[in-house]
Amino acid sequence: MKSMLAGAPWLLAHKSMLDVNKPKKFSIYGSDYVLWKDTTGKINALPNACPHMGAMLSEGWCEQKKDNSSVVVCPFHALEFDGEGCTILPDSQKKTIPQLQPLELIIQGDFIWSYGGQEPKTKIPEILNKIAAEYDFIGYTADTSVETDLLPMLLNMHDYNHQNGTHRPLFRITEVKFGKFIDNGHESHAFYDMPTAPTAVAEKIKKPDLLLIQKEIKAHLENHFPSLVIFHGETAIGKVAQCHLFVPESETRTRTYVLMFGKPKLPVFKIFSKNILNFAKVVVEQDTDILQKIYPNTPQKIKLNNEVGMDWVRRNFENWPEIAEPNFSK
Ligand code: FES
Ligand SMILES: [Fe+2]
Repeated sequence: MKSMLAGAPWLLAHKSMLDVNKPKKFSIYGSDYVLWKDTTGKINALPNACPHMGAMLSEGWCEQKKDNSSVVVCPFHALEFDGEGCTILPDSQKKTIPQLQPLELIIQGDFIWSYGGQEPKTKIPEILNKIAAEYDFIGYTADTSVETDLLPMLLNMHDYNHQNGTHRPLFRITEVKFGKFIDNGHESHAFYDMPTAPTAVAEKIKKPDLLLIQKEIKAHLENHFPSLVIFHGETAIGKVAQCHLFVPESETRTRTYVLMFGKPKLPVFKIFSKNILNFAKVVVEQDTDILQKIYPNTPQKIKLNNEVGMDWVRRNFENWPEIAEPNFSK
């Protein structure tokens, strides 16, 4: 369980990721759950195995009740379960006691958080609520379940040198100029600039996504260990907050996805929303690809400059759930 950091809050989803009255499967800490949203926006979460004969409830459907709440219906013998895990057996008019124990959720606006049924050890970061209040929600993208432990996933996100390898075809970054790192324990900030190689006009016309790349990308990463990394980007047409989320599905599978928020400076920003989302999607695809091509537990004999973000991840991992004395600011 240590490798999945029990007691951390994980953002299971943004409400927009759930269709009304459509069951969806989620995994956390090695257990599967079914989540569904009713017409009132209420979110329900139950263990996914039907207590009758184990069918996956997420493969079933929802049925709306008179009070607009809804139940999930098992695809095998059509037993209905409400948000409390109670059912009504055939030939009976009465609800049973709960047959499934709901997963505890913490709903903050559109954000669906969970401690995965474990005892909470750290607080839910406030920052997403602030961003939601200040920015427009653009959308989500790249919801991906990756065959990797949590640690390599987090290391990748805090590795400031992999743009030239993993993301080479996308960014054309020529150099990483490290600015500073602010270490506040479980929260940190990294600032660095990345000059990019010029692209020909013809190329830009073929791949309009390239228009979003500036001569020098100024990166500010805001990190909230362990579940959230925010890339704050500023372009001529507006600001973006690209939020990368992580969920430990099991010891060997980690889910990641991106929630994109924007603050337009110019109206054309809206037109580019799709491109911005697509950009993030490609970034995650490239990260997913390399994560599946790493030998785990290879001793690291070489250390590059600017690996401070990864040092920060390793320290927090080793000390979890204790917050170690911040010692990486520079
Ligand atoms: S397995 Fe779900 S109702 Fe029978
Ligand atoms: Fe990456």
